[in-house]
Amino acid sequence: MSRRIGILTSGGDCAGLNAVIRAAALRAHHGYGWTTIGIGRGTLGLLERPVEAVTLDPARLDSSLARQGGTFLGSTNRGDPFAYPMPDGSLKDRSGEMVEGLKQLRLDGLIGVGGDGSLDILRRLLAPSGVPFVGVPKTIDNDVGQTERAVGYSTAVAIATEALDRLQPTGASHERVMVLEVMGRDAGHIAIAAGIAGGADVVLIPEVRWSVDRVVGHIARLRAEGRTSALVVVAEAAGQSDEAVDEAADAAADAPDHGVGEWLAKRLAKATGAEARATVLGHVQRGAMPTAEDRLLASALGVRAVDVLADGKGDRMVAWWNRQVIDVPLEKVVGRSRTVDPGGALIRTARALGICLGDAI
Ligand code: F6P
Repeated sequence: MSRRIGILTSGGDCAGLNAVIRAAALRAHHGYGWTTIGIGRGTLGLLERPVEAVTLDPARLDSSLARQGGTFLGSTNRGDPFAYPMPDGSLKDRSGEMVEGLKQLRLDGLIGVGGDGSLDILRRLLAPSGVPFVGVPKTIDNDVGQTERAVGYSTAVAIATEALDRLQPTGASHERVMVLEVMGRDAGHIAIAAGIAGGADVVLIPEVRWSVDRVVGHIARLRAEGRTSALVVVAEAAGQSDEAVDEAADAAADAPDHGVGEWLAKRLAKATGAEARATVLGHVQRGAMPTAEDRLLASALGVRAVDVLADGKGDRMVAWWNRQVIDVPLEKVVGRSRTVDPGGALIRTARALGICLGDAI
């Protein structure tokens, strides 16, 4: 029997979202003869009347879509249905309106492409509706539990690595300490991966307690060995590491309006006597053409999400694990974000390469 399934992208965008949408819609059409409805602007489209939605025509989902960054459906990270921000500043539960919007679409299943926060919200939203829900993990932060990879992470790492490739020669030319602040929310996945790939001297992440003194000591050692410049990668939340918090509090007067990158560059300049410059990479990490790896992951997960619905399952997330595409219960995912394992392979690799993590080891 022909079915109608919906798909929406929710939370911060990243590279590879269009490839997920394309893969799911093609699988639904060619594999099962189903129609796919794309819902606009994440959950926000469900508040519109008529609901903001479009039937995805497989003939228009050509391969160029897999190359495009962003999400052609739009997304939001501000539309929590249970605490929706109203113009007067209050928060209102608008989940009922969104469920009503979903009913109007007469869907037999919904695929939500999101990070763990979005997947949690969508799961709770869908629960009373009886519409089976399958999540696809995406986020440059790569912090979704139960999957080794989230869509968008590979591209963000490639961009951060390229930024280091570009900062190294200019830093070397001017004998500077170059600090690159990368995104990642509360996790250091982008920082540690790009730091290794891009040949950083120092990588600071929230999962490893670090201190400026140790970074200064490392830069002094490099100098003694004849190096005149240094590359430092700092995750945006690295200032949350305990010692760094104390130091940041001390230094708050120096850098009240800036992030950890600016703050660190100032501290390093003062302590080492070298010139230091900070680059905050920001949303550049999200808005790119996806890497081949992200296109592959997005395609594999998009296909699997439809297969999970076809199997009659719901409340699942598709995942990449040990070179396999699997699906896992969403209850095991939500509220359990996956941070960098301080004893894991990447941390051991970084230490073996002589990269300073700012700690005592
Ligand atoms: O979760 C993705 C992410 O890009 C984080 O790395 C970053 O902290 C945050 O979103 C930025 O959010 P916004 O787009 O609202 O500035």
